[in-house]
Amino acid sequence: MQLKNDLLLRAARGEKVERTPVWLMRQAGRILPEYREVRASVSGFIELAKTPALAAEVTLQPVDILGVDAAIIFSDILVIPEAMGLPYEMVEKRGPYFPKTIASIEEVKKLRIASPEEDLNYVLEAIKITKKELDGRVPLIGFAGCPWTIFCYMIEGSGSKTFSKARKMLYREPEMARVLLDKITQSTIDYLKAQIAAGADIVQIFDSWAGILPPEQYNTFSLSYIQQICDAIDEVPVTVFAKGAFFARSEMAKLNCETIGLDWNMKIGESRQMIGEDKTLQGNLDPCALYGSSKEVASATRNMLDQFGNSRHIANLGHGVYPDIDPKMVKVFVETVKDYSTKLRA
Ligand code: CP3
Repeated sequence: MQLKNDLLLRAARGEKVERTPVWLMRQAGRILPEYREVRASVSGFIELAKTPALAAEVTLQPVDILGVDAAIIFSDILVIPEAMGLPYEMVEKRGPYFPKTIASIEEVKKLRIASPEEDLNYVLEAIKITKKELDGRVPLIGFAGCPWTIFCYMIEGSGSKTFSKARKMLYREPEMARVLLDKITQSTIDYLKAQIAAGADIVQIFDSWAGILPPEQYNTFSLSYIQQICDAIDEVPVTVFAKGAFFARSEMAKLNCETIGLDWNMKIGESRQMIGEDKTLQGNLDPCALYGSSKEVASATRNMLDQFGNSRHIANLGHGVYPDIDPKMVKVFVETVKDYSTKLRA
């Protein structure tokens, strides 16, 4: 189907745009009272994610309410470990928890390569419903975690400040780490391809824990797997967001992807220089800037847009929007991008 608003896709491919497209990482299911209402009607996050009609409903909310230029499918990066045989729970106010974790090569061998049609059909169904209900208004973003970030959760079993168990494995059992990363990578490629077949117009991979690795280990244990994913996906544009990977920006320039996400620590001009003109950059306002007044939010947003100038850019925050941010301030961000970038690109 022809999209009525394809700004995001054109910006990703480096084509001409009348204004800069804008969306927010974690826009679905964090800040809207309308989300909380739907969420309260079920037992928890997992039931919501596994009920395609409801997942589609909360995916559409930010498009309707905030006016963003893309929808991102409501799900989580942790559906992949579950589909490989390692189920997770979402503990209220605390985050993900894996009752079983991976500690030996025997356990790695017991994991299966995820079969999206069998194990993740609920996500594919949610994508199909969302596409129908979007009716071409904006593109739909599919996503997955990067193998390294998924590996962290599978070894550690929950969030962690240091992920030292996961990192210990890179030193003590590098071979086992490689076998596990390979399995996650294969599962992720199949999963992203299935999301695209179901209707995703663009895909993003989230490497939330990129920043905890030293540069050389990052190349070996994360970037090389990201590269395999980028090389395998040629159906739609690919975005790579590696939080904290400032040290890997020149390497990332060589990835076979259209867009690189920047976090808010990364200087915009310097990033453009390191990554070059042939990629779109996405980001990177500090999520905390949205705690300011409307005037301050608008001014911080204009300042960000000025720094990206007329180059290939998708406006976003430097990480996911925080749960207690006022949706009104998100609207100020979105509307400022729309108005100001129209002038900037005229
Ligand atoms: O972007 C979107 O709005 C779409 C949905 C989405 C969720 N998680 C829903 C979710 C996306 C893209 C994610 C990605 C994700 N999940 C990442 C990568 C991005 C990042 O933030 O770095 C990571 C690391 C996770 C793992 C995860 N899931 C954590 C650490 C938590 C707990 C804290 C939190 O973010 O709320 C989750 C839970 C989760 N994922 C919720 C939602 C809406 C909250 C669950 C609830 O409603 O109780």
